[in-house]
Amino acid sequence: MTSNETGTHGAVLTDTPPEGDRPLVELRSAGKSYGNIRALHGVDLTVHPGRVTCVLGDNGAGKSTLIKIISGLHQHTEGEFLVDGEPVRFSTPREALDKGIATVYQDLAVVPLMPVWRNFFLGSEMTKGPWPVRRLDIEKMKKTADEELRNMGIVLDDMEQPIGTLSGGQRQCVAIARAVYFGARVLILDEPTAALGVKQSGVVLKYIAAAREKGLGVIFITHNPHHAYMVGDHFSVLRLGTMELSASRSEVSLEELTNHMAGGTELASLKHELAQVRGVDVEELPEEGDLTAPVATSSEGKS
Ligand SMILES: Nc1ncnc2c1ncn2[C@@H]1O[C@H](COP(=O)(O)OP(=O)(O)OP(=O)(O)O)[C@@H](O)[C@H]1O
Ligand SMILES: [Mg+2]
Repeated sequence: MTSNETGTHGAVLTDTPPEGDRPLVELRSAGKSYGNIRALHGVDLTVHPGRVTCVLGDNGAGKSTLIKIISGLHQHTEGEFLVDGEPVRFSTPREALDKGIATVYQDLAVVPLMPVWRNFFLGSEMTKGPWPVRRLDIEKMKKTADEELRNMGIVLDDMEQPIGTLSGGQRQCVAIARAVYFGARVLILDEPTAALGVKQSGVVLKYIAAAREKGLGVIFITHNPHHAYMVGDHFSVLRLGTMELSASRSEVSLEELTNHMAGGTELASLKHELAQVRGVDVEELPEEGDLTAPVATSSEGKS
């Protein structure tokens, strides 16, 4: 499998694994208010082992709020949140981590000048020897990090190279491999491909697929329906804090998903507005249901 396959519909996805018996994580009519602001309302979400649940939505739709509840940064103010079928309410991200819920944030918490292996074990270093002469077991950490990265299909020439010298995509992959190694059962990825080009995005999508193959339940947050459709088993679209669409792969096509993301009616009215502006050829704009082409606008348009 190569990263060149990103443009192909469903390329990274091989077969949908059987649905796990019990959801790892479940939200039932969950919601969150920040004071008077109701950021999220009536959200249902299920995460099964060996499946990728994609959460899509425009800016401010509530995606980050949703994952903050699951990762223990915020608490829900409505509905239920269950892990392994038990209602929970995490006070800290540590509590979520203890339940095997790991989150890879977009601004990865890495130390750029530290070697790859050091970042891999940051905060959970391996040591050897008895106290008080206990010291870091550098060789073992290097070897383990290398093995774990290779396990995920990431081959780096030099474990000593500073992590800052890796590409954004590789850094995301190291973070995913790290979460897998430290026993994550649920992996939350907040827009891991947002800042990446096509090829690097393909690499990250490949490791999302690899994490799923290892039986993890993955929550993949993205703006990009194409990326979602390449690895997703289930798709949830948030809009103004509520779930506008929740459908499994067999229930929704890439075209429908794209249309939901773009907001078919909003696009139609945008097209109407643009029609009033000189310099924009509305005939060139995509039709509803064919929103995959980029929208070309003119900066010179003045009415
Ligand atoms: N700490 C906060 N206090 C008050 N309002 C907040 C807070 N965090 C988020 N909100 C509001 O909640 C809504 C949802 O925000 P959220 O960050 O979850 O959206 P998002 O889908 O992640 O957007 P983006 O794609 O821009 O990251 C927004 O209207 C936002 O202004
Ligand atoms: Mg966000």
